[in-house]
Amino acid sequence: MNLLFVCLGNICRSPLAESLFKFNLEKKGKLAFFKIDSCGTSNWHQGEKADHRTLKNAKENGVYITHLAKQITQNDVNQFDYLFVMDNENYKNVLQMFPESEKKLFLLTHFSKIKHNQIIPDPYFGTENDFQDVLNLLNIVTNELADFLIEKHCN
Ligand code: 4NP
Repeated sequence: MNLLFVCLGNICRSPLAESLFKFNLEKKGKLAFFKIDSCGTSNWHQGEKADHRTLKNAKENGVYITHLAKQITQNDVNQFDYLFVMDNENYKNVLQMFPESEKKLFLLTHFSKIKHNQIIPDPYFGTENDFQDVLNLLNIVTNELADFLIEKHCN
């Protein structure tokens, strides 16, 4: 399975979702079944490392992010089985750029029972606490998503 996590800038939420999803999959021994990447709907931070606040929070939780920001491409839409966006604006933007993506495009929380259809709020202009909240939310949701996809595709 090929999974792409998508946010606006690809420096706060989606690179963290990518790393947490890998971290949770690895704990379940299923990392090898998945190809995972992340990107932004914008090119505003193209080539940059993740935001320093995201990097710090992740590191404090034993998660390391090496991803460099990039914008979503047609090739991504062709290649990935699932595109997981963080909020409704991301959803609208991806659909506008690539209308044919609709069948594989989901809110990240779509398959979550605990956080069903909640958005992952953009923390960029927020506080340290907002970044911590995003990490906690992404950890719950990516863990649940890993269980769901393992059950659906790995048995
Ligand atoms: P992300 O957060 O979409 O989670 O990476 C943002 C990063 C940068 C900006 C907005 C949101 N920006 O306005 O530059």
